[in-house]
Amino acid sequence: MRLKGKTAIVTGGARGIGGAVAAGYAREGARVCVADIEFEVAKDTTQRIGNGAFAFHLDVTKQASIDACITEVERQAGGVDILVNNAAVFDMSPVTEITEREYDKVFAVNVKGLIFMLQAAARSMIKRGQGGKIINFSSQAGRRGEALVTVYCASKAAVISITQSSGLNLIKHGINVNGIAPGVVDTPMWDVVDGLFAKYESRPIGEKKRLVGEGVPFGRMGKPEDLVGAAIFLASNESDYVVAQTFNVDGGQWMS
Ligand SMILES: NC(=O)c1ccc[n+]([C@@H]2O[C@H](COP(=O)([O-])OP(=O)(O)OC[C@H]3O[C@@H](n4cnc5c(N)ncnc54)[C@H](O)[C@@H]3O)[C@@H](O)[C@H]2O)c1
Repeated sequence: MRLKGKTAIVTGGARGIGGAVAAGYAREGARVCVADIEFEVAKDTTQRIGNGAFAFHLDVTKQASIDACITEVERQAGGVDILVNNAAVFDMSPVTEITEREYDKVFAVNVKGLIFMLQAAARSMIKRGQGGKIINFSSQAGRRGEALVTVYCASKAAVISITQSSGLNLIKHGINVNGIAPGVVDTPMWDVVDGLFAKYESRPIGEKKRLVGEGVPFGRMGKPEDLVGAAIFLASNESDYVVAQTFNVDGGQWMS
């Protein structure tokens, strides 16, 4: 059990990749706060994963909600050892059709929410003086542009940059900040992606998802469970000397 006695917050932990990471951490002995805007789904997830997991109704776009989450974890578990910044939203459009609404929605969750969640957890970890682990979810979309995905790609490139700067700033406190860049993973988010590609590329529903899966060097689309090993490694003492990196866990999609 590599995370025995640790407490982890997983934002967006109700489902998808976050749900799999939360379950993996519980299996490794961590007590997990499943922090998600979908509170009822988060509660179901805590029932499924057990090991003292508890749900918190978190909206990462609201500072008061972030502060309340950290306070609740300090109260229930004595402090936070691991933060997984996983919550995100997707949208896409041709660059000539991007709206302020799309930009604000995506950046509010994927960038602003991630930074202030990281800040709140880091302050709590520094106050406690036991170091910690912060894992930010970027994407292959943060490694390079995609014709219809300007705003989301920019938000995920920002996550790689935030991981670098905050990682360099926080390691003196014994806090490792690192990231994971998944490729294409079969989650509810990809159903949204597939629907939007169907709209903008005039495809039948499901076609884009099938094609991207066939294009992965590994031979298939990722499953949420494929991200869990890297997330456990980055949360454990085995990664103490890994600082400010973002690992591609994508079946061979991108090399950097
Ligand atoms: N699925 C993929 O192909 C893929 C690829 C690369 C990167 N990623 C990244 O991996 C992470 C997880 O993706 P996923 O596919 O599991 O997504 P998902 O949409 O299935 O799950 C995201 C979770 O975040 C929660 N959430 C959304 N807004 C929130 C908010 N304001 N506050 C708190 N929680 C909120 C949702 O309720 C949901 O439970 C994201 O950061 C995503 O960008 C996913």
